Amino acid sequence: QIEKVYAREILDSRGYPTVEVDVYTGDGYGSFSGFGRASVPSGASTGTNEALELRDGDERYGGKGVLDAVNNINTLIEADLVGMDVRDQREIDEMMIAMDGTESKMNLGANAILGVSLAVARAAADALNIPLYRYLGGTNSFTLPVPTMNVLNGGKHAGNDLAIQEFMIQPKGAENYAEALRMGVETYHELERVLVDKYGPSSTNVGYEGGFAPPISLTIDALDALLIAVENAGYSQSDVTIGLDAAASEFYDGRHYLIDGKKMSSGELVDYYLELINTYPIILIEDPFHEESFEDFATLTSEAWETLIVGDDLFVTNVDRLSRGIELGAANALLLKVNQIGTLSEAFDASLLAQRSGYSVVVSHRSAETEDSTIADLSVALGADLIKTGAPARSERTAKYNQLLRIEEDLGEAAQYVQL
Ligand code: PGA
Ligand code: ZN
Repeated sequence: QIEKVYAREILDSRGYPTVEVDVYTGDGYGSFSGFGRASVPSGASTGTNEALELRDGDERYGGKGVLDAVNNINTLIEADLVGMDVRDQREIDEMMIAMDGTESKMNLGANAILGVSLAVARAAADALNIPLYRYLGGTNSFTLPVPTMNVLNGGKHAGNDLAIQEFMIQPKGAENYAEALRMGVETYHELERVLVDKYGPSSTNVGYEGGFAPPISLTIDALDALLIAVENAGYSQSDVTIGLDAAASEFYDGRHYLIDGKKMSSGELVDYYLELINTYPIILIEDPFHEESFEDFATLTSEAWETLIVGDDLFVTNVDRLSRGIELGAANALLLKVNQIGTLSEAFDASLLAQRSGYSVVVSHRSAETEDSTIADLSVALGADLIKTGAPARSERTAKYNQLLRIEEDLGEAAQYVQL
């Protein structure tokens, strides 16, 4: 049973405060048998419909302190959780949702609720002495997702003029996850050389997620640099493919999309994407349109039926929004971010609905992360097709990629790398 819940304020990878939670389990007589610690990520290009991150809004840290959220855990949530069975994840999550009482989790804060939700799962796995991925997914969790690595940054994540936020690579052609990781890293390092040669040494300064942020403004120039890097690393365009996160809400002005120095209507943007897909080995486009444009998503999904069209800000890991998307045929993949919805159980619900409806699941980090690697275990537990957790550099990103190496090792012969 849960003996103690304790939260503190720590820093995320952008140097802003976030919530960390410790959960202790024991026999009820003061001796601890299980321990779980988890911390909460934070986005920059956040969707309007995401669950609410509680920030203090006072003079500390420019208003971004999270002491109110921490306090909610250490008083209200702790009081209700102590004595509960740590394995009752869903009951615990539902209790916190009810205690908060709002759609957006604004009272307790989605950051408070999520921190507890994740730490509870970790404590349960520890108390039962089984790896987290197996606790969450059971014995049938044996697939390692394809990493979609963000190697070149634009949009809100970088200081250049690229409209598209993320240029990602997928080492699809690997035999196993460890090899995939190596292929991705080799390509990342080749990209560094390509960019230095073409745009000078400052072009390999990095964005929020560790991808390079070169002074490029045209989408195709970034894509061309990627293709050269793949070739220089010795891989074919079918072994290492390309994905984009347009994060298009960020370059939509309410009527048009501002991209490559042009103003495009949504119809023109559909054609633009189709042309890119025909020219480059692009297998995935996330948030190609702004966050309310279900119809435009549906149009592109039906025209580019072989491409993964991923809904991030569109779905915000929310079952209701995902259901609406499924009805309309908007997108064919769900980006799953635990902090968009605020509990592990609700994230599971979204994943299950996606998979039952033939949608792929892409488990994702946020642009501000911590050393917490829970999403790596979660991606295996859910049987996700892909995991997106930034460049294969910077410790808050490699924490997740490295954890997947350990999971693959733990699974041994049973491990299978997802074939997209
Ligand atoms: P965010 O970006 O964490 O800043 O929202 C990630 C994404 O858009 O996928
Ligand atoms: Zn996104």
